[in-house]
Amino acid sequence: MKSSTFQSSAREDQELRQPPSPLPCQKPYSKLRIGNVELDHWAVLAPMAGITNLAFRLLAKEMGAGLVYSEMVSANGLVLGQKRTLEYLKTDPAEAPLAVQIFGAEPQTMARAAEIVAQKGFSILDINLGCPVKKVTKTGSGAALLRDRHRLSEIIRAVRKVWPRALTAKLRAGWSPPKGIAHEIAAMLQDLGVDAVSIHPRFATQGFSGQAHWPIIAQVRKAVSIPVIGNGDVFSPQKAFDMRVQTGCHGVMIARGAIGNPWIFRQIIDMEKGKEPRGPTVKERKVMIMRHFHLLAQERGEAQAARLMRGLLLWYTKGLPNSSRFRGAIGRIKDLDSLTREMEKYFNTLERGEP
Ligand SMILES: Cc1cc2nc3c(=O)[nH]c(=O)nc-3n(C[C@H](O)[C@H](O)[C@H](O)COP(=O)(O)O)c2cc1C
Repeated sequence: MKSSTFQSSAREDQELRQPPSPLPCQKPYSKLRIGNVELDHWAVLAPMAGITNLAFRLLAKEMGAGLVYSEMVSANGLVLGQKRTLEYLKTDPAEAPLAVQIFGAEPQTMARAAEIVAQKGFSILDINLGCPVKKVTKTGSGAALLRDRHRLSEIIRAVRKVWPRALTAKLRAGWSPPKGIAHEIAAMLQDLGVDAVSIHPRFATQGFSGQAHWPIIAQVRKAVSIPVIGNGDVFSPQKAFDMRVQTGCHGVMIARGAIGNPWIFRQIIDMEKGKEPRGPTVKERKVMIMRHFHLLAQERGEAQAARLMRGLLLWYTKGLPNSSRFRGAIGRIKDLDSLTREMEKYFNTLERGEP
């Protein structure tokens, strides 16, 4: 995003780039605490519809993610008891602590959904205030709530009444440029009892275009005393540290940078320990892909796992040598046998270092 679309003077912009001093309780690179939940690490996996199912969350967790989020779950679907929606709540003790993200526009429906979620053992409930997709915003949910503070505060009040555990919200910069309002919304949420916020500093109308405007993260950080998790355009371990230093945020949330690359969490931890960040070996990549498939198959059955894996394989093999023939073959993967066959063919050439 061009900085001119964000309403701040050059001086303010410069000021926002100066990291605020860390909170006394939050040393740089300390663990992150959200409400009563202590995370092992400050780098967390973002909620992603169609991606952060149980299988991927388990793999990210194994690689060191401090917290993993469910895909966004419709509050309406939960309240109506829709089978497909309830399936999003499948969890495993190994991924604890786990955050579930819900979206909706009706305070009572959101509160009822929170009660349903509470019975499933999630540690953190996250409210989606960032989804820009029309299907969601036209119902008044997701990023549309950034434009309706009254409704938003009613939702938070209703949910807070029935959800005693950690409550968070994930927001965008605002609805449309130029005025960023995330800092005002975050302060309001803090007053209403929200325990942490995450901020993806693009406006709803921007979708994913341009760059995430990190100074907005610093602005939110300065406006509240609860933990702030920055999000947007972290595609390397170094970027996670840059975001912390440049914005003063307590946690860093990674979405696209983790798809097909759960090792990014291990790399962040390596760097923090002063070690060379370990990218995956060929063998580790192969093992990860196969495990991802097996976990998906357990969760969804082999045919659906193969369908999901076809998309994920493009991410897992991005930038690898001679991947074009393998990528061409991905369409033929329909089950475990065909996946194993194509994987053996391609990864054998990689292991032998063949051109
Ligand atoms: C495939 C995909 C699905 C997403 N689904 C959700 C979602 O369910 N809830 C949400 O709050 N954000 C969702 N997002 C947004 C991400 O959580 C994140 O805010 C955004 O991708 C910016 O982070 P990044 O630059 O690290 O990708 C999604 C993003 C992607 C790419």
